[in-house]
Amino acid sequence: MRNPIYSIDDARKRAGRRVPKLMFDYIDGAAGEESAAANNTQRYRDIRLLPRSFNDINQRDLSTSLMGHKYKLPFGIAPMGMCALSWHGADRLLAEAAVHREIPIGVSTAASASLEDMAQWANDNAWFQLYVGPSVDEAMKLVERAKTAGYKTLILTVDAQKVARRARDIRNGFQAPLKIGPRQFFDLALHPEWSLTTLIKGKPELANFSNDPNDASFTRTATRGLLDEEFLKRLRKAWPGQLVIKGICTVDNALHAVEHGADAVYLSNHGGRQLDSAVAPIDQLPHVRDALPSHIPIMIDSGVRSGDSIVKALAKGADFVFLGRPFLYAIGANGARGLDQVFDILEDEISTVMAQVGCASIAELDERIIFRD
Ligand SMILES: Cc1cc2nc3c(=O)[nH]c(=O)nc-3n(C[C@H](O)[C@H](O)[C@H](O)COP(=O)(O)O)c2cc1C
Repeated sequence: MRNPIYSIDDARKRAGRRVPKLMFDYIDGAAGEESAAANNTQRYRDIRLLPRSFNDINQRDLSTSLMGHKYKLPFGIAPMGMCALSWHGADRLLAEAAVHREIPIGVSTAASASLEDMAQWANDNAWFQLYVGPSVDEAMKLVERAKTAGYKTLILTVDAQKVARRARDIRNGFQAPLKIGPRQFFDLALHPEWSLTTLIKGKPELANFSNDPNDASFTRTATRGLLDEEFLKRLRKAWPGQLVIKGICTVDNALHAVEHGADAVYLSNHGGRQLDSAVAPIDQLPHVRDALPSHIPIMIDSGVRSGDSIVKALAKGADFVFLGRPFLYAIGANGARGLDQVFDILEDEISTVMAQVGCASIAELDERIIFRD
């Protein structure tokens, strides 16, 4: 096979060649100088593990339980808007992968497939992710739609009060809905496979909303900040299922989330796409774990690029890990096959690292495998 994928970085590089720059930079880019995005991954690298021998590690079990469900792997697919920018049909590929791999997938408010379609394709693996835009009533309509579609878990994202300045997008003239001027046209012409597929099959759209340009119920750059106590009460009353609050980076916010009815806390700095100076969630994880009651699960994302990093997050107290960009790199690099390869790489890396640190199950991953100076 030409250009095989041996690592997430291979997938990223290959996607960078196959996907138009306008789209690739939207996926790959981050806020400001992109220092939070770089730091997120670096802080995983800075953690050193302790190789440990003499334990029976011949049979290793990567499954884990989370909020009453058993998942085959300890990681899932983070909610991402406009996944079809990586390639036409990406949302469905992700939904099917979630079913096949028996893991959860976050379905974004800004998804490029409707929440109803995603629920059909991913069944109980689909968790609906809510953004609260300028209108709380519109947000509550989405909540009702999610209920009707059969979702059991809702992720409320709280870290996008104000969408960040992302230099690459501004430079490239990225807009949603997409606007194609001469520069963008040239970029598309240089990537004919992506462009022809998209031309034939349809351009990426915000599938949860009408395509009427006058419909402002959700716009990418509008403030998403109406998350006061009254709203949290209203949401908790309206949503009978599990409520996960995503985008938490501080102990205070984690406690606030739980006090207001969150069943789980999801540590994230949005993959460095919001606050460029944001602390890496992995650095806050031990503090949040210490502060929260032990029955409250903690999920984490941002900067995870290997099975090794997944093991580190679990050992530092996370109950579950999510990844975002790696799955879009995979699809951009090589469609369904690329996605399969990236899942295989992550699974193999987790299993191998577990063997090397002397753990046969996810429950055994704890502070004992982390090097302390
Ligand atoms: C292209 C893209 C779109 C995203 N859209 C959303 C979204 O709609 N809702 C949300 O809660 N997070 C969104 N995120 C953030 C992810 O859920 C996740 O927090 C982040 O990607 C994790 O970092 P990582 O990409 O370094 O793994 C998006 C991320 C990317 C890369």
